[in-house]
Amino acid sequence: MQISPAESSTRDIYRHMVSLITPRPIAWVTTVSESGITNLAPFSFFNGVGANPPTLMFCPVNRRDGSFKHSLVNAMATGEFVVHVVSFDLAETMNDTSADFDEETSEIEALGIETVDSIYVAPPRIKAAPAAFECKVDRVIHLNEGPAAANIVIGQVVMMHIRDDILGDDGLADPAKLDAVGRLGRSDYARTTDRFSLERARVN
Ligand SMILES: Cc1cc2nc3c(=O)[nH]c(=O)nc-3n(C[C@H](O)[C@H](O)[C@H](O)COP(=O)(O)O)c2cc1C
Repeated sequence: MQISPAESSTRDIYRHMVSLITPRPIAWVTTVSESGITNLAPFSFFNGVGANPPTLMFCPVNRRDGSFKHSLVNAMATGEFVVHVVSFDLAETMNDTSADFDEETSEIEALGIETVDSIYVAPPRIKAAPAAFECKVDRVIHLNEGPAAANIVIGQVVMMHIRDDILGDDGLADPAKLDAVGRLGRSDYARTTDRFSLERARVN
């Protein structure tokens, strides 16, 4: 099978992309609107992109009507957001926050999600999340206009929070204790319970 984007609908291209680019980590993102309403939504077009300075990105694509999602509007207006790692026990709550709440409604308040204050940014942290990255917006890149067009929010990490009970003996997050979930295509998700190791290859 071959697919030429030039001859395919945006919907089909999107469905193939998210079924093939897997598993995707999930950024569970808190922001605050200019009028002070907290917002929480998941984004799996997400990754870390560098460590010096520590930098990550997530991509809220335009809605079907071409408008910006609330997380994007808020990040652009305030320059701040917090990314949380989603563990298996939080997957359903994370999914609940992806519903199309109106801009006046805080997903955090509507769903009764417990938060704590962040240190350097206004968006709060999800208390139950195993790890969180407080971020300041470095830049936002709009690649196109219209439905499903990409907006890339690049953030500099100004504080990392790692729950002590997920640390391994080496001081890093233990994948078994982190129990992170990843997004697949359709309605599927992956768990990190089945793992294998490879030592980094070297030229002899
Ligand atoms: C696991 C998961 C991953 C998602 N990833 C993305 C994504 O990468 N980009 C995107 O625009 N929407 C994504 N969504 C949909 C948004 O979460 C949804 O549109 C949400 O309502 C946006 O909220 P906001 O308008 O408050 O920012 C995802 C939903 C789920 C459940």
